[in-house]
Amino acid sequence: MTDAIEAHRTDFPIEGFHHIEFWVGNAYEAAHYYRAIHGYEIVGYRGPETGVRHRASYALRQNDVRLVFTGALAPEDELSEHLMLHGPGVKDVAIQVPDAEVAHELAVSRGAVSVQEPTVVEGDRGKWKAAAIKAYGDTIHSLVENPDMTWPPPDFRLRSDSIATPIGLDHIDHVVANVELGSMDEWVEYYERVFGFVLLRHFDDKAISTEYSALMSKVVWDGSGVIRLPINEPAVGRRKSQIEEYLDFYRSSGVQHIAIATDSLVDTVAAARERGLGLMAVPDTYYDDLLERVPDLDADLDELKRLNILADQDDGGHLLQIFTRMMQDRPTVFFEFIERRGAIGFGEGNFRALFEAIERDQEERGNL
Ligand code: FE2
Repeated sequence: MTDAIEAHRTDFPIEGFHHIEFWVGNAYEAAHYYRAIHGYEIVGYRGPETGVRHRASYALRQNDVRLVFTGALAPEDELSEHLMLHGPGVKDVAIQVPDAEVAHELAVSRGAVSVQEPTVVEGDRGKWKAAAIKAYGDTIHSLVENPDMTWPPPDFRLRSDSIATPIGLDHIDHVVANVELGSMDEWVEYYERVFGFVLLRHFDDKAISTEYSALMSKVVWDGSGVIRLPINEPAVGRRKSQIEEYLDFYRSSGVQHIAIATDSLVDTVAAARERGLGLMAVPDTYYDDLLERVPDLDADLDELKRLNILADQDDGGHLLQIFTRMMQDRPTVFFEFIERRGAIGFGEGNFRALFEAIERDQEERGNL
């Protein structure tokens, strides 16, 4: 493992993650799952009733986490094809920018492929401007200029008819991509060139491997911490790695997990478990030497064990984290909840524990 933290501020005008849009089979059902289990409020809707013929979208919010779930109403819609190929997954990792025109022009001048010219989106509650560029696989990055922080999007109709009890999810901490074997460095170079990001950390397959699974990972960031994007590629293991399994089922590069920050992971997980959120199991033996690995840990060890919460430590401090089960039938996308207590890393010390947990599930599916 090598750390390459350098003083840096990107020259790309960027403010942070804006929202994440999922393309799913049944947006209504997905929205209500995330409301009931993850505690998001459903705040907006766009569909035939608002003049959009072939799609239905629900906008969700919990503190500064903004999600959209969109489904197609017709087989000829591009979304239906996307769904057929990839299954439900993340279409758009939208980034907030101070000026969509400037951001789009700069990105394209640096080699990004435009998928949407800057466009004004208007409604009763205001307007914003957004453009979009291609990212890994069929994923895109919208570049959203939204100075008033209008949410749901201006062309959505407000909804407030759902009861949601938040579980303390606060903001998006990082978004992880799985990319095809041999293309990690290309995507690192893409984020360096287009967005002016730099390498934050890098892990080779010796640092992150178990008997079966191995991966290589590089993390790029904007230098201030508002955007952190780990990029994984599979490494050769004795048997199929979880990154390969993802690529086989998603049929391309794509988003593997979204990490959401909370101020109290114990409270978040206790609330989520009560509602039936499926979490990745952790072997009891994981906790035997936890205090040796995380000497700063200030938490009730029995409680962490009961809730399956992981901990890790790096130069900056320590962190608590937990991973959900796969959020759809295909073993592709999942969530992480994370509480940073000074740590700047991503829980690298837990990769092995996580992998071992994933592999037990993989074995059950017959994909190991
Ligand atoms: Fe993560």
